[in-house]
Amino acid sequence: MFAFSNAVNSMHSEDIKLLMKQASGKSMISFAGGMPNNDLFPVKQIDDIYNSLPEDIKKLCFQYGPTSGYPPLIKSLESHLEKKGLPVLSNKILITTGSLQAISIITQEFINEGDIILTENPSFVGALSVFETFGAEIHSIPIDKDGIDIKALKRKIVSLDRTPKFLYVTPNYHNPAGIIYTPERKKELLEVLSGTGIILLEDDAYSDLYFNENEKYLTKSMKSFGVKDVEIIYTGSFSKILGPGFRLGYMLSSPEIFEKAETVKQALDACTSNFMQILGNEFLVQHKLESYLKFLRSEYLERKNLLQKSLEKYMPKEVTWNEPKGGFYIWLKLPSHIKSTDIFKESVKNGVVFVTGRTFDPASKKDDRLRLAFSNMPKESIEKGVIILAKALKKVIKNAKVKS
Ligand SMILES: Cc1ncc(COP(=O)(O)O)c(C=O)c1O
Repeated sequence: MFAFSNAVNSMHSEDIKLLMKQASGKSMISFAGGMPNNDLFPVKQIDDIYNSLPEDIKKLCFQYGPTSGYPPLIKSLESHLEKKGLPVLSNKILITTGSLQAISIITQEFINEGDIILTENPSFVGALSVFETFGAEIHSIPIDKDGIDIKALKRKIVSLDRTPKFLYVTPNYHNPAGIIYTPERKKELLEVLSGTGIILLEDDAYSDLYFNENEKYLTKSMKSFGVKDVEIIYTGSFSKILGPGFRLGYMLSSPEIFEKAETVKQALDACTSNFMQILGNEFLVQHKLESYLKFLRSEYLERKNLLQKSLEKYMPKEVTWNEPKGGFYIWLKLPSHIKSTDIFKESVKNGVVFVTGRTFDPASKKDDRLRLAFSNMPKESIEKGVIILAKALKKVIKNAKVKS
């Protein structure tokens, strides 16, 4: 037995290892992986970009770069984010190795063991794992179809004897819940935080993946609302729009927060891969992103529609869900006495996997939900997968009735 640190005993990291294994199991129909399908990646565009780079830039790909990021990428990201209304002039961008690294940097920047972090319930399991690793005390607040439960958030803040360091939220196309906050809910959230000293960590990994152009306005980030008395750190990612293999993310924060974050990053990996930053930058400056996103949006919409139709056709009536307006996920609600872990055990025997509800509960308990990701699904497998899942569900529900 080795004397391992507290940090490596995170419950959620075990869940993530299992999740990644299930997501990539070849013989399975997998609704597990919250990632794009390999067939959707812009392989040809990236080939063209690399092949047409001048020799000196190709050489730069192999080199270390500044800790804050490849300057031309910072510049092109600034104009990309400015178009979305983000306050790039009064804030600074730090390029990170995936946005999970940004979450990790922010956690290291603010959290001492025992400090409080507020999260949504459910919440992105990768972030939960980071928060646990750094010894945070996590307090979670439920969400409904329109966003975080404002009354519960107020109650929580009043009930605590210490000020939480930050509140972590994913307002646009939530992972796992699939919802998008209404503009009113975003406003209310900022009103609650105003003057409390609680920083808002706004994780915006999915906002480009709306299904309907008319609903793009819903994705407006809280950081762009211009609220003065709430400190907001905004994180974004190329993982869902170019590919997670790029490991390209970023954070936008006030200069003071940026400065300390840069110090943390320096100690972590010195800099994010120049190779990936240069390719990512060219994708932006050569205006390839917008047309690629159009293609992705229509692909994901098609997959979501197929899943929605199949669920309507095959799910027992006790199972409910909100139809998503973008992103990767449908979050099924089961009857409260049914555990998604039991359904998993049944459906995996017949070749279908998904992620159980308890994976996304900070306390690893609440298990009356399950997450289906349609992003990585071959279209032709969706209906078949739902038929198998529905069968497993019906069996577990029936057995529960017999027992009671
Ligand atoms: C809500 C959310 N935030 C952040 C990430 C991390 O993305 P990456 O580190 O690949 O940028 C993910 C990935 O699944 C996510 O779902």
